[in-house]
Amino acid sequence: MKVFETDLGQIIQQDSLAYMREQMADESLDLIFTSPPFALLRKKDYGNVEEHRYVAWFEEFAHQFHRILKPTGSLVIDIGGSWIPGQPTRSLYHFELLIMLCRRVGFYLAQEFYWWNPSKLPTPAEWVNVRRIRVKDAVNCVFWLSKTPWPKASNRRVLVPYSDSMQALLENGYSAKLRPSGHDISDKFQVDNGGAIPPNLLAIPNTESNSYYLRYCRDRNIKPHPARFPSKLPEYFIRMLTDEGNFVFDPFGGSCVTGEVAERLDRRWLCCEIVDEYIEGAKGRFESQASLGETTTDSPASYEIYNAWALWSASTEDDEVLPEDGGQKRPSKNKKSKTSQKPYKVKVTRKQLRLFEADKDLTSEKATSSD
Ligand SMILES: C[S@@+](CC[C@H](N)C(=O)[O-])C[C@H]1O[C@@H](n2cnc3c(N)ncnc32)[C@H](O)[C@@H]1O
Repeated sequence: MKVFETDLGQIIQQDSLAYMREQMADESLDLIFTSPPFALLRKKDYGNVEEHRYVAWFEEFAHQFHRILKPTGSLVIDIGGSWIPGQPTRSLYHFELLIMLCRRVGFYLAQEFYWWNPSKLPTPAEWVNVRRIRVKDAVNCVFWLSKTPWPKASNRRVLVPYSDSMQALLENGYSAKLRPSGHDISDKFQVDNGGAIPPNLLAIPNTESNSYYLRYCRDRNIKPHPARFPSKLPEYFIRMLTDEGNFVFDPFGGSCVTGEVAERLDRRWLCCEIVDEYIEGAKGRFESQASLGETTTDSPASYEIYNAWALWSASTEDDEVLPEDGGQKRPSKNKKSKTSQKPYKVKVTRKQLRLFEADKDLTSEKATSSD
């Protein structure tokens, strides 16, 4: 059932598995870019598949993806990790998914990327904020898979600005020499290629707050999609892996961000989505040139990531002693209120512990000797 159409693309309201089986030809696509429902603990409105059923559920889609992709094509999946209910350990479901895609369906892992969302909140609060036994989970895995080891791609499409030191080197020159590591840095190093080759860590904030899409939804009383990815994420891969006129498909289309980016970059596209309300909102993305690709520009061009050791001191003597129970016992609320300025930071340093232990030994010695 076709529900919406532009010159370049369509949104179809249908189960994408059925649509692929019934309507899509073999080897007809250049890129499948998608973010499927994750196996989350906290369920989203559109329903999430349970963790233990996830891989089996996805496998049927995966076989279709493999069939409909061209040999030069790519499948890119944005997937977030999940936690085991009630304990501070991680699910393996997204890794199992990757193994299944390669071992059982026949995809190659062209490269794994990590999408770092600098605006991600610290969750789950219980493990991260309250017990302080895990760190903030701020990356999604983005698996780039291909049907052959040679999908078409170019990193020249996704260059980033040179660092200040590289810029200086390009301007002031570099004397070619052998580095201590043995690497031969030749004068080719000094060629300005228009930008630096990026790492596989993508810093993209997910902070859309006043976009055309959101205003469109608000004005029409449509509930915006609750799990949208930022447009820069599909844009990165559409630029790197497809040419103008190529065909891009998002089988879990949601609010059709993938379609919007493909339209703006002159690629043909198709999004499947089952929830009617999400499609109603998605239509706003294609209302006019103004709505197409309108981006909020309040994000910085770069982020500062501290060295892991930025706050370390030479000695670890004053470190808080680790909880022997791994944090199983929840810090008591009373403790929190007594030390309201620094909750849970009632510090016992190693030095204090040693003094305490020495004192205890002394006391027990005294007790023994007085017996
Ligand atoms: C994580 S969301 C995708 C959000 C999207 N990337 C965006 O930025 O708006 C996954 C979407 O897949 C849809 N979905 C789940 N199963 C589907 C299926 N079998 N066929 C089509 N859509 C499906 C859900 O309704 C949900 O909107």
